Amino acid sequence: MYNDNPTLKFDEKQKDLLGEERQGEALEAASAEGLVPDNGKRFYIESYGCQMNFSDSEIVASILQGEGYRITRDHDEADVILLNTCSIREKAEDRIRKRLIELKAVKKKKPDSVIGILGCMAERLKDKLLEEEQLVDIVCGPDAYRDLPNLVNVAETGQDAVNVFLSKEETYADISPVRLDRNGVTAFVSIMRGCDNMCSFCVVPFTRGRERSRNAFSIVAESQELFDKGYREVTLLGQNVDSYKWKNPAEEAQVSFANLLSMVADVHPDLRVRFSTSHPKDMTDEVLEVMAARENVCNYIHLPVQSGNSRVLDLMNRTYTREWYLNRVDAIKRIIPDCAISTDIITGFCSETEEEHQETLSIMDIVQYDMAYMFFYSERPGTLAARKLEDDIPEEIKKRRLREVIDKQMKHALEANQACIGKTYKVLVEKVSKRSDDDYCGRNDQNKMIVFPKEQSKIGSYINVKVHSCTSASLKGEIVPN
Ligand code: 5AD
Ligand code: SF4
Repeated sequence: MYNDNPTLKFDEKQKDLLGEERQGEALEAASAEGLVPDNGKRFYIESYGCQMNFSDSEIVASILQGEGYRITRDHDEADVILLNTCSIREKAEDRIRKRLIELKAVKKKKPDSVIGILGCMAERLKDKLLEEEQLVDIVCGPDAYRDLPNLVNVAETGQDAVNVFLSKEETYADISPVRLDRNGVTAFVSIMRGCDNMCSFCVVPFTRGRERSRNAFSIVAESQELFDKGYREVTLLGQNVDSYKWKNPAEEAQVSFANLLSMVADVHPDLRVRFSTSHPKDMTDEVLEVMAARENVCNYIHLPVQSGNSRVLDLMNRTYTREWYLNRVDAIKRIIPDCAISTDIITGFCSETEEEHQETLSIMDIVQYDMAYMFFYSERPGTLAARKLEDDIPEEIKKRRLREVIDKQMKHALEANQACIGKTYKVLVEKVSKRSDDDYCGRNDQNKMIVFPKEQSKIGSYINVKVHSCTSASLKGEIVPN
């Protein structure tokens, strides 16, 4: 899930995730909390893009903190300014470029400071941002974060500092992330890195490298540690969680994603477990059965469809058809009847006809997604589509089709939310509502955000909320006795 999404709903989320101020505060608290060394230097970090990037920034914070850097939320006082970046669409990169120009002005006031670009844009553009555009001092790809303290030292001597080596093994399994969000209730846990799928529109396999799974015991240990610190929800993150596989060197057996889900669910019945992202070609009934059987594995699946037409899916190299996808949706509805489903949709992919676009609209009618992230196609250099297919749908048509998809989704989301009115849900209290200090908000099992008056409830506790009203983006209700 990415934060340059054009829908209103996503913008809400983006503000929430990107709140630099909030991140900074949490960072300072995290620094103050632990007995970390202090080398007198400060770093500042902003994150863009998917949840994986936000999770990676927590690994970066941990690595720098281990070397004595302290976190600051004020870039003016930072010795090291970092941007963890996203390349998924052109718009995402444009935004980051603008931000880099602003930060260059900040550096003018503190010439000794260094600016580093991390993540997918660093990997994609390599030394171009450093040499041609002179926007940054450090370029550090997603598998090179352990080298960051060294790169900072190199940059401080005025030399170019670049490490974009992609690893087949790095999973940062041993690094205990510094939590940058400040709710103290929900956390991301990365379970794998990279992607081997090669969807033709997608730059991720080039920027994040080959797929590799993290040691299952380190995932369980991190989840346990979070629970012990008061966290009550973990989201297991991977580009394609269903292809998670890790071989325990001590035994012959391989740990599958279904096995891993059970292992994390065993940490504690009060620890909710979520995950993202599922791939329709790999999502097994076994995973669905674990979800159905385990009370604390949430009934919510993000299952990107991308297009409702089999010819377009083939061009996208998604390796499934419309029928296969619908079969997977049927399996979800059969095995977990109250499961919420969300998706990703791309409009105006190469050569998509009006009829094929109609098939995307019709699959939406069949599935009735609770939520969707919707985009128009943006050609990315180096991808299979950029090399082999013509980006031939005019932008106004891509955008008109996107509008139709968004309008339909808003209608479905509103209907799905209206169906919740009068029902009571178990909610994990997450934070103060953005709209009113008198309200808290939290999500139900199906990932729907519910806002309710605080009363005596506490952040991090489970309460029952009866829903009385809704919009297409959220539900409102009142606490009722357990
Ligand atoms: N253009 C538009 N959307 C894209 N996505 C990935 N690459 C592109 C692209 N080139 C979307 C897909 C993916 C989500 C994370 O971003 O829908 O599932
Ligand atoms: Fe990109 Fe496809 Fe991998 Fe997702 S599964 S990261 S869309 S290549």
